[in-house]
Amino acid sequence: MIRPHDAIIEIARPLPAAKPGWPVIGTMTDFSSDPIGYLAALHQAHGDVAPFSFGVGGLQVLVMHPDVIGEVLQGTGKTFRKGYQSGFATPLVLGNGLVTSEGDFWRRQRKLAQPAFHTKRIASYADTMVQLTAEAVAGWQAGSERDIHHEMMRLTSRIATRTLFSAELTDADHMEALLTTMMEGLKGDFQSWEAFLPTAIPTPNRANLKAAVDAFDKYLLAIIEARRSDPTPHDDLLAMLMEARDDQDQPMSAAQLRDEVVTLYIAGHETTANTLSWGWMLLSQNPAVRARLEAEVDSVLGGRPATFADLRQLPYTTAVLKEIMRLYPVAWSISRMANEDVELGGYRIPKNTNIWIAQYLLHRDSRWFDNPLGFDPERWLDGRTETLPKNAYLPFGGGPRICIGNSFAEMEGVLLLATISQRFRLNLVPGQRLDLDPGITIRPRFGMQVLIESR
Ligand code: HEM
Repeated sequence: MIRPHDAIIEIARPLPAAKPGWPVIGTMTDFSSDPIGYLAALHQAHGDVAPFSFGVGGLQVLVMHPDVIGEVLQGTGKTFRKGYQSGFATPLVLGNGLVTSEGDFWRRQRKLAQPAFHTKRIASYADTMVQLTAEAVAGWQAGSERDIHHEMMRLTSRIATRTLFSAELTDADHMEALLTTMMEGLKGDFQSWEAFLPTAIPTPNRANLKAAVDAFDKYLLAIIEARRSDPTPHDDLLAMLMEARDDQDQPMSAAQLRDEVVTLYIAGHETTANTLSWGWMLLSQNPAVRARLEAEVDSVLGGRPATFADLRQLPYTTAVLKEIMRLYPVAWSISRMANEDVELGGYRIPKNTNIWIAQYLLHRDSRWFDNPLGFDPERWLDGRTETLPKNAYLPFGGGPRICIGNSFAEMEGVLLLATISQRFRLNLVPGQRLDLDPGITIRPRFGMQVLIESR
């Protein structure tokens, strides 16, 4: 008997053949030389369900229609899996933490961490975010130049460490350098020919990455160790993870605790730092938007520090953040693996195909957004986005694996934009290269130099 699902698969068209590219690696090098440009051209050539090949790395399919994207995201955990645990770098850096784990194990860990992200809990982080921002900018001198990406990394790192682990890092600059190596390594898992080498084969890049992860871990393990020997009770995410017991009344293993802490630390600050960096660039390039943001911040705050209660009174600042995340969704793409043969957008997709969702392209698609390339926060206030199809705007992903930190990040983004704009205007230093580096996230490849102007 044909089950309805099989019947759908029967009538679905076969996918057009992917361009084979080179033996073994397929079109991996074409992709990795310009991932966003490659996917944009693929979409143009093949439409909303577009195949490409990573050779022995398997069939890849870009899906660009919001309805199809919704099916993939909602089906994660059933028809689809994340499939992030292969490769060399991902298991080494993120292990089996919240971003990468699957199935019942993921569900249990997510439930465990969730209370740290409830609205009431998040509200209690607002004052820390504002205070640490005020400390970060206290030394800024009008007329001086700063790498704003570095500044944002340092600040969001402090905020994540303080709010989630009630701790301070001893050498944030060293950790940032190590993190850059780690992000490069993660990128390599899906953008480098080395991804095709068996994981047991050592290469200089792999040795370098392993050394960075070991050094990085030491800093975070020191926080865990300090907590173990601290008799005072704590009420933070770290305490939730350390005090959790499974069905057999066993605590999380040391390795698992490390994976969760590293994952939350990285996911919890690098993304927000990149978002804000692109935001300062856009504000510098769009003085009219910046003037309106400053006007709102001045009239609502009147010079005093922002609080959680102010967030509702800052609709324009909130729209600015949404618009930054539309043009620069720092998680610029995500992917899922098909657990079985499926139908997507009328095409038959074989089991184990890797499905790509590219938010960077989705958010700039003129079918869903008018003035798609303009920095136009007003669109979020004047009703234009009310007709936006579901799943056409996904800075935090969607479905069961939606970002656990979305409200945390939105609050942090608005508070930092407001707090810094109260005192300073950041102007891009002219003549610098502001290349996008699309790895796991989109980072400014050469940092971002700004000239500090006092308001
Ligand atoms: C602007 C800032 C942020 C952006 C753009 C962002 C984006 C994303 C996206 C797109 C995903 C889904 C990945 C996928 O489906 O494959 C995700 C997952 C995740 N994010 Fe965020 N994120 C941000 C901030 C944060 C913060 C502040 C935290 C924690 C404090 C966090 C922790 C996580 C975790 C743990 C996951 C995995 C959730 C799961 O699979 O259950 N993120 N994030």
